[in-house]
Amino acid sequence: MALKTLSAFLLAAAAAVRAQNLTQLTFAGVNIAGFDFGCGTDGTCDITQVDPPLLQLGGSDGLGEMQHFVKDDGYNVFRLPVGWQYLTYNQSTSVLNETQFANYNMLVSACLSTGAHCEIDIHNYARYDGEIIGQGGPTNEVFAALWYNIASYWKDEPNVIFGVMNEPHDLPSIPMWAETVQYAVTAIREAGATTQIILLPGDNYTSAETFVSGGSAEALNMVVNPDGTKTNLIMDVHKYLDYDNSGTHAACVTNNIADAWYPLSTWLRENGRQALNTETGGGDVVSCVGYISQQIGYQAANADVILGYLGWAAGSFATNYILSQTPYYNNSVWTDQLLVALAMSPNTNMLVVGSVNMTEAAWAFD
Ligand SMILES: *[C@@H]1O[C@H](CO)[C@@H](O)[C@H](O)[C@H]1NC(C)=O
Ligand SMILES: *[C@@H]1O[C@H](CO)[C@@H](O)[C@H](O)[C@H]1NC(C)=O
Ligand SMILES: *[C@@H]1O[C@H](CO)[C@@H](O)[C@H](O)[C@H]1NC(C)=O
Ligand SMILES: *[C@@H]1O[C@H](CO)[C@@H](O)[C@H](O)[C@H]1NC(C)=O
Ligand SMILES: *[C@@H]1O[C@H](CO)[C@@H](O)[C@H](O)[C@H]1NC(C)=O
Ligand SMILES: *[C@@H]1O[C@H](CO)[C@@H](O)[C@H](O)[C@H]1NC(C)=O
Repeated sequence: MALKTLSAFLLAAAAAVRAQNLTQLTFAGVNIAGFDFGCGTDGTCDITQVDPPLLQLGGSDGLGEMQHFVKDDGYNVFRLPVGWQYLTYNQSTSVLNETQFANYNMLVSACLSTGAHCEIDIHNYARYDGEIIGQGGPTNEVFAALWYNIASYWKDEPNVIFGVMNEPHDLPSIPMWAETVQYAVTAIREAGATTQIILLPGDNYTSAETFVSGGSAEALNMVVNPDGTKTNLIMDVHKYLDYDNSGTHAACVTNNIADAWYPLSTWLRENGRQALNTETGGGDVVSCVGYISQQIGYQAANADVILGYLGWAAGSFATNYILSQTPYYNNSVWTDQLLVALAMSPNTNMLVVGSVNMTEAAWAFD
């Protein structure tokens, strides 16, 4: 590793943070993937490829990872992707298969046992087997009933977050999609989950960059709780730092501030809304350490409207996956990947509630 370059990046990041008002983000966490493996962007999910991040199901030690992330890093939220097909055992219905749902709930329960918030994320790209929900595919009623059934199970658990849908894209009609999201919100609230956070996803893979300019912000701003309020309806946004925002290249080329976080924060503040960045990340390389630090610093300076960030991804990903945030476990010791250790861990950046206090953070950046 080029230490000289690394320290230059860290100094730049620290300067960016110092120039802004240091505040603390509400949430920071990691995606614990595996129940979504086999899902494609066309909304197909080959459930034979699922690799549950649970020792008791023969998979990786997701519980151990989450305990490590909470205890050693100060993280306080995890996102738990799962395919619709997995939960219904390949049926495009709202009927949860008891065994499959119980398996997934083992992960949700493991997550909750750490004291963190836990996001249920339906990882279907607004689709089921290539067909768009409410626009030719499963009806809004079926999708709403799916969420009703899931939310009924967790209605009394305040730390569960409902992620309506992972990365919608290429939607023929964004207003019609907002209507679909409204169906899900109404169903979740009517199931008795009246206060928990619900995440509202926009078009273009929930790109933070085009959330406002692409029309998702305006459409989703119409979605309301049954009582007409917008309490705890939080915008869901993703952003990667590679050249095409795909999250498939190790090198980072941007901190996303000018193109994404600035316009997004401005819109959120003007409209009295908030967002959570549920996927971001990069390779374990110096460029990502620098740019992610700048991105998180900017998010923290706008913590009134940006609630936090979650890295992609740990769980069942191998430690050598290009965006792996899966910690190494050797001789009973967990060791974080470079990007987590040097930039994303709250105990490193000190920009998340519950991590080192702000007085300390202020002088740490001097
Ligand atoms: C920092 O906060 C103070 C007080 O809220 C405000 O006057 C100032 O403009 C802020 N500075 C920046 C760079 O946002
Ligand atoms: C589920 O459907 C897929 C095709 O979409 C198929 O490949 C797979 O074998 C099915 N699995 C089960 C358990 O039915
Ligand atoms: C539920 O899923 C299990 C596999 O986990 C399967 O064996 C069973 O047949 C499914 N039940 C129904 C009613 O489809
Ligand atoms: C989607 O967002 C990316 C950046 O996140 C942008 O480059 C691209 O042009 C957007 N596509 C559409 C169709 O808006
Ligand atoms: C842990 O062991 C793996 C091989 O099993 C090795 O690649 C890795 O560098 C080790 N990590 C640490 C932090 O020792
Ligand atoms: C925060 O850190 C400073 C410097 O170490 C310390 O003096 C102060 O007591 C701490 N405050 C809290 C609330 O822990």
